[in-house]
Amino acid sequence: MSNFVRIFDTTLRDGEQSPGCSMNLKEKLEMAHQLDRLGVDIMEAGFAIASPGDFASVKSIAKEMKNSCVASLARALIKDIDAAAEAVKAAKFPRIHTFIATSDIHMAYKLKMTPEQVLNQAVEMVKYAKKYCSDIEFSAEDASRTNPAFLYRILEAVIQAGATTVNIPDTVGYAAPEEYAALIRGIKENVPSIDKAIISVHCHNDLGLGVANSLAALKAGAMQIECTVNGIGERAGNSALEEIVMNLKTRKDYYGIDTRINTKEIYKTSKLLSSITGVRVQPNKAIVGENAFAHESGIHQHGMLANKETYEIMTPESIGLTENKLVLGKHSGRHAFEEKIVSMGYELDEEALNKAFEQFKVLADKKKEITDRDLEALVCRKVVSIPEAYKLDRFVINAGNTITTTSSMRLLTKTGHVLEEVVSSYDGPIDASYKAIDRLVGKKFMLEDFVINSVTGGTDAQGEVNVKIRNKDKVYNGHGVSMDIVEASILAYISAINSMIYDQDENGKR
Ligand code: KIV
Ligand code: ZN
Repeated sequence: MSNFVRIFDTTLRDGEQSPGCSMNLKEKLEMAHQLDRLGVDIMEAGFAIASPGDFASVKSIAKEMKNSCVASLARALIKDIDAAAEAVKAAKFPRIHTFIATSDIHMAYKLKMTPEQVLNQAVEMVKYAKKYCSDIEFSAEDASRTNPAFLYRILEAVIQAGATTVNIPDTVGYAAPEEYAALIRGIKENVPSIDKAIISVHCHNDLGLGVANSLAALKAGAMQIECTVNGIGERAGNSALEEIVMNLKTRKDYYGIDTRINTKEIYKTSKLLSSITGVRVQPNKAIVGENAFAHESGIHQHGMLANKETYEIMTPESIGLTENKLVLGKHSGRHAFEEKIVSMGYELDEEALNKAFEQFKVLADKKKEITDRDLEALVCRKVVSIPEAYKLDRFVINAGNTITTTSSMRLLTKTGHVLEEVVSSYDGPIDASYKAIDRLVGKKFMLEDFVINSVTGGTDAQGEVNVKIRNKDKVYNGHGVSMDIVEASILAYISAINSMIYDQDENGKR
């Protein structure tokens, strides 16, 4: 077995299950391409049986990935495995990932099955999946709370049945590092055929130990780690990919094993996910937080100036975080702009590039200093361009602290119609504007979340707004950037509505 840890990314499956992190087909595809560039060994593209939308996205991702193995999750049920097999069959490297719970509490209360029934079902389903695909992963859900003797038996049986990877999830984030490592050692010692399979770990972060548990398991012999970008996932999330990878790279002296991840793509991957989901990482988040490489205190800065290694154990460049003042100004041409965007690692199609360039020109006219972060805010979201059912044409706000606010809103539809509405509100310009848009679109949306951030410091900074709107049981994200925060808020709201319309159109096609 070659000496690298397999990175199994489940951002698009376990990660997408976390509140507020759902993605549409285009967003999932874009994220999948970025994960492919990042170099994940396996990406779990979704849970094919879960919905027609999940099935379609797993299938499209499977077709398009050039390097990564593409997996679909499936319960240990025939209909799930059929759907998973169909969805991944076009992949260059397909995998079916089937699971069943093995802890006493899950078997008794959730599955209402005896251990023998669970074992037989697991074996039958691994054999069934094997008819479709040679690469089969079996997960013993809630393995960390499973009776070890039963776990050894079921793992031996599924390996004999053809499982090539066996995953030992800490489903509820209950394990402690030493204990979890001991479980992996126990598996190595007590499962006779274990050398025929790769041991995988999948740790949830309920007690904040997801990464620690994964790394402890690795020391004990696990060769695949399941994780998500920014650590998103059910409840407190999954182990964070960037933390696992940078631990292995920075502490190669201790772990003695590497990954095949191109770490220079980490920052961009994290940013793309945040911009798609509208869920930002906390500033002090390891590796990808805004402050992860910031040295504030005088003593630290002094040390850094004398020798960077006094306080820096890894460089920002190693995760692809660069900061050059843009040498372009308001007179710069499209070609120079394109070169800069490409040098930052973004690939935009013609239309998105033209749009970003237009916005850059407006920004360069108003803002003294344009940083990489400003450009990122302009282009990051544009890599996922969906059809614009509505576009902002113009708006006029009349506001003050002694008058009722009035928003006069003009939108263009994709068929070129001009829609206009004027709304007054006691609750300020954003409320008035959102009400005007609701009237123009002919629907009232529930605003679930509204977050505003400045892209950089300074009063001339761009404002970046992320909103979530609810329509029935679904939530849609929208994103807007402008130096005017009211405009950024309006753009974000329209983008969420466009995302909803895109999703409805796509579902209508299925
Ligand atoms: O947490 C878990 O147990 C899972 C399995 C389905 C792998 O996500
Ligand atoms: Zn999980």
